[in-house]
Amino acid sequence: RIDKETLFGPEIRAAIDAQIAKYPPEWKQSAVMAALTIVQDANGGWLTTELMDRVAAYLDMPPIAVYEVATFYSMYDLKPQGRHKVCVCNSISCMLNGSEALIAHVEHQYGVKPGEISADGRFTLKEVECLGACRDAPVVLIDKVYHERLTPEALDRLIEGLD
Ligand code: FES
Repeated sequence: RIDKETLFGPEIRAAIDAQIAKYPPEWKQSAVMAALTIVQDANGGWLTTELMDRVAAYLDMPPIAVYEVATFYSMYDLKPQGRHKVCVCNSISCMLNGSEALIAHVEHQYGVKPGEISADGRFTLKEVECLGACRDAPVVLIDKVYHERLTPEALDRLIEGLD
């Protein structure tokens, strides 16, 4: 996590600079998604307005353009999160293959609805759009790791294993 003092400190800037370096100088705004991911990860999994503004300034973008990216993609969160994110795909292939049962199971077992944090702060349950792994539906993304063809029991074991 980063606090105000270290917000956009050398480490964060270096990580963003490495992303900017992948593009021609006049296209540095192309690094916006990577930059948002870097600062979100450093901030415990969510973006504050201040952080988005800092990204905008760093990439010479209007803040509104950064807010649009951050609100469009489900991997960005604009409010505090649990220590982990359990993202259940609810698009068509996953829905047809049991994603609703996965969500219902987590709701019942842990008392959390999509968008909520578990009482122990361990995880946020999120419903997300297609994760691009439909062939192996239902798919759950936990933090940055894909878990495929999950049953409620298998998801339960994964959640139990979270710190
Ligand atoms: Fe779930 Fe595509 S529908 S991964």
